[in-house]
Amino acid sequence: MASEAKMYYTLEEVSKHDRAQDCWIIISNKVYDVTSFMYKHPGGRGALIYVAGTDATESFEQVGHSEDAKGEMSHLYIGDLHLHLHLDHKPPPPSATANNNIQQEEEQVADSNSAMSQQVYM
Ligand code: HEM
Repeated sequence: MASEAKMYYTLEEVSKHDRAQDCWIIISNKVYDVTSFMYKHPGGRGALIYVAGTDATESFEQVGHSEDAKGEMSHLYIGDLHLHLHLDHKPPPPSATANNNIQQEEEQVADSNSAMSQQVYM
């Protein structure tokens, strides 16, 4: 087994770290703990607090951060965004129990779930 354990976080978990004293952000499906970087960020604390606990990919890219910034990010990286957890726990739709053709129904749901997992949950 590889020695480094990989961490995954859900959007819900990341959203709890939404303040200056405890600030996580998502950039390109990677999770960064920027708490210690607040006062060092050349773009100011405000920019990071504004996107705390959220997906900041768009804001980050709009600024056009340099290679220096990208180097700095590797120190702040704590794990990846978990993309499929919500779907794994989804209960079957109510119609499945009331229908004689349950198996067929389930196949349809499985198909739509896999299609959704590619598009919706970022
Ligand atoms: C881990 C995340 C981030 C790191 C490591 C980082 C790092 C940096 C660095 C090194 C600079 C100096 C300019 C450069 O080298 O590009 C900078 C500037 C800046 N950053 Fe960030 N940044 C991060 C996230 C963000 C986010 C999420 C925002 C917006 C919400 C943001 C907004 C800005 C702004 C507005 C500037 C100033 C640009 C200027 O004055 O030219 N940064 N950042």
